[in-house]
Amino acid sequence: MKELPAGVFVLIIILGVIVLAAVLYCVWAFIEPNLFEVTERKLSPADKDTDFRKQSPGAIPSGKAPGLRLFFFTDLHAELCRVSSKRLISALRAAHNASPLDAVIFGGDICNDYSTSGRGLSYLKEVSDVCSEFNIPFYGVTGNHDLEFDPSDGKCHFTSIEGRQIEFRSHASGRPVILCGVDDSGRKERVWYKVPPVPSDCISVLVCHNPDAILHFGSDEHVDYMLSGHFHAGQLKMPFRLEFARLRSDILPRKKVVEGVFEYKGTTFFISRGLGCNAIPVRSGAIPEASVVEIYD
Ligand SMILES: [Fe+2]
Repeated sequence: MKELPAGVFVLIIILGVIVLAAVLYCVWAFIEPNLFEVTERKLSPADKDTDFRKQSPGAIPSGKAPGLRLFFFTDLHAELCRVSSKRLISALRAAHNASPLDAVIFGGDICNDYSTSGRGLSYLKEVSDVCSEFNIPFYGVTGNHDLEFDPSDGKCHFTSIEGRQIEFRSHASGRPVILCGVDDSGRKERVWYKVPPVPSDCISVLVCHNPDAILHFGSDEHVDYMLSGHFHAGQLKMPFRLEFARLRSDILPRKKVVEGVFEYKGTTFFISRGLGCNAIPVRSGAIPEASVVEIYD
């Protein structure tokens, strides 16, 4: 039998490795949506002159107690969410038992399609029932997939904070906190809604589905903290960030602001990886996440 030239043999090996890596990547992409991570996100005040600096949790003095403790989950996309309500609720219970939560907050995108919204709504109902059991308020906003919902009608099972503000006092410090939210207009005719005015002597926290909103704050709009989702951490990470360069039009990912805690012009903001999937049930490099958010103000 005639032997293959060395160059052809090397080429076959390289192609084989590439095909194997592609197959493993695809298999992994279907496994990862089933994973679930409960992250601890510690947020401290931002410098006024920062321009998308990643905030280090090491900046918080050890032994200091948080001024506010929240449980935040977002981007449920319930039809394609492999993290069951049971797993999320178990994480919520554990977080509250470890130290009392001030509020549970949902950041939008209940489902992929309004016609199949039943699963998402019953998921939120289960979360709401646990919040009632623990006497924790459950607040939320809708996302770009939720245009047909009117969260003020109570059918989403959380108290809507879109275009309004709620004032309460932190369990730990007794400090007044203003929690507010904005609606998401969806992508087709994008409108960036104004942030409700907040007094400067309170800790102010904005819940806003799409973190690109921070680029559109007017000179009279300011909050100390913002909680967001929307990017799914890219959902399916690809070489050269193709997932954002080719598949999405969002601005912050082009500045390498995709997930985690950042500072921008006096606002500290957190972008969650979210829980579910858009379009197909795949994730890679974007493990589903719910977070205990502690604010050290
Ligand atoms: Fe989403």
